[in-house]
Amino acid sequence: MRLKMPMVGWFDPAQLIQTAIRVLISSLFGEFADRREAFAAANPIKDDKLDERCDYSATPDGDLWVDYVADTGDGWNPTFAIAQLLAAKQLHPRASAGGEAIEAGLPRAQVLVLGGDQVYPTASQEDYDNRFVYPFDEAYRPGGGPETMWDEKHRPDLFAVPGNHDWYDGLKNFFHLFCRRTIKSDGEAEISRNGNVIGGRQTHQTRSYFALKLPKGWWLWGTDSQLAGYIDQPQVDFFQYVAQCWMEPGSKLILCTGTPDWEYVRGDKPGTYEGLSYLERLAPAVRGKNHKLKLVLSGDSHHYARFQEQGLNYITCGGGGAFLHPTHQLPKEPVDFQTRFPRPGETFDPDHGPYDRRFAIGTKEGSGEEALFPDRNASRKLTAGNILFAFRNWKLTATLAAGYLFFIWLLDFNLRVSDGERLPAALVDGSLRDAIMRYWELGFYSPWSTILLIVSGAAYYYFAEIEKPWKRLLVGGGHALVHAALVTLITCLVVRAMAPTDLIGTILALAAAAIASAFASATVIGLYLWFCLSVFGIHWGHFSSLAIQGYKSFLRLHIDGEGVLTVHPIGLTKVPSDRGRRSGRPPDLDPHLIEPPIRIAP
Ligand SMILES: [Fe+2]
Repeated sequence: MRLKMPMVGWFDPAQLIQTAIRVLISSLFGEFADRREAFAAANPIKDDKLDERCDYSATPDGDLWVDYVADTGDGWNPTFAIAQLLAAKQLHPRASAGGEAIEAGLPRAQVLVLGGDQVYPTASQEDYDNRFVYPFDEAYRPGGGPETMWDEKHRPDLFAVPGNHDWYDGLKNFFHLFCRRTIKSDGEAEISRNGNVIGGRQTHQTRSYFALKLPKGWWLWGTDSQLAGYIDQPQVDFFQYVAQCWMEPGSKLILCTGTPDWEYVRGDKPGTYEGLSYLERLAPAVRGKNHKLKLVLSGDSHHYARFQEQGLNYITCGGGGAFLHPTHQLPKEPVDFQTRFPRPGETFDPDHGPYDRRFAIGTKEGSGEEALFPDRNASRKLTAGNILFAFRNWKLTATLAAGYLFFIWLLDFNLRVSDGERLPAALVDGSLRDAIMRYWELGFYSPWSTILLIVSGAAYYYFAEIEKPWKRLLVGGGHALVHAALVTLITCLVVRAMAPTDLIGTILALAAAAIASAFASATVIGLYLWFCLSVFGIHWGHFSSLAIQGYKSFLRLHIDGEGVLTVHPIGLTKVPSDRGRRSGRPPDLDPHLIEPPIRIAP
């Protein structure tokens, strides 16, 4: 049975363990069991002409609409809201948040490109089904009834790029969902198989990457950069072949990649851009063809941010359904760095040495504001929600309470073995200072409590998102010390206040101390995340603690009869809840243009 899933609880202890195991296993898959080459060998692509199902160059009106959405498949509410917008026959978004609705509607796209991370938290079949397929099916066929948003004759097509979360099972389920089509080769005892239908859309791809021919000399490449940016050789060969043999001279390229490296690269970490700097040059570097890279798209970061380098747009748009990522940590000033290759379109000279590159956040036409959604202010305010970390992540709080109770029980046991005394009696005697000293002495009475203290300290060190070991030790160690001091103080205060004299009273006092300590600790984690993100711009990925459903986004692209590409960045600030829908309230979907449409001349 399909389920309407809540947002993934990334700080749930069971989830934390599962994610850690998956990351470990997927790294092994990536290193030792990369299936892309096997799939490429099993699905050879004919070299005589482009697959007709990837050819959209001849449309009845000479134009084409393409939707780009990435990072879908988290909780039901945001993914379903986006799936509904994508399925609507026409969209009339407001010209800006709270502005007037634009008159000319934006029709439903004939092609939907998924930009990666179609599912969270891991790539299990169940999660794909519940968190990705179900909301898209429901948006296409509400209530599972006979009414559908379009008939089979007008079925749009679906292509998908894998993200790191799709790679968590080595792409097994990704291939099953999106690459089911097979094309029989001459002499093979096989039959050709059609693709899959997901949310009323037809899949056609046979590999985890694809090239689509669009009208007026435009092309769209969907690339698979695996977990760490590695592009396999058959994939490079395929795109080089496409650029050399199928793309007419002077073609214009939209490149879809798995990670927005333009957003992650820093002057002191230029290696982050190495993979993309090679990929983005593949088409423009073909001699005598004069292909031009015109637009680069990616998800992975769950917000909208348009970067530019010398007029070329690099757009991060990962608002398809996953929890929000902040924007206020993004660099305000342009980021300068050096790479081995020059900008796409410039000639590579092996004797040149490193080439200078520079990315800056673009500005919205008219207002001059930064092309971000949410904007820095909204993002900064949302971070304050971490004050309620203990309640928002109650499963972690409950686990901390159990852990503290276990630790206190160990101290009580240590004391009974050594002095024949119970812990409350030892903490009630003397001053508060004496109690605190006694508590810490007991912590090192037995190996078990000592091991627990060391493991806890190591966990806070590991959690600190800082590369330099001494800085990490400073921040992680400081964070651990705050917890240790607070938990000690609270335990002593609670036990002294309750001053139990019998067994039941002792159990109650120790349990109360553990629960109060857990709430304090969880709150410290929330404050730590708030402080680190606001002051140092680190731990932005841990915005997942807030599981914010709103601020969704996708791109509606249009190539018109003149060959002009227009990008409409659609934003959805608020996402209606399923509970609200079921109560009979009409769905409150209020999309707007994040910034004025971006026109890219042919
Ligand atoms: Fe993602």
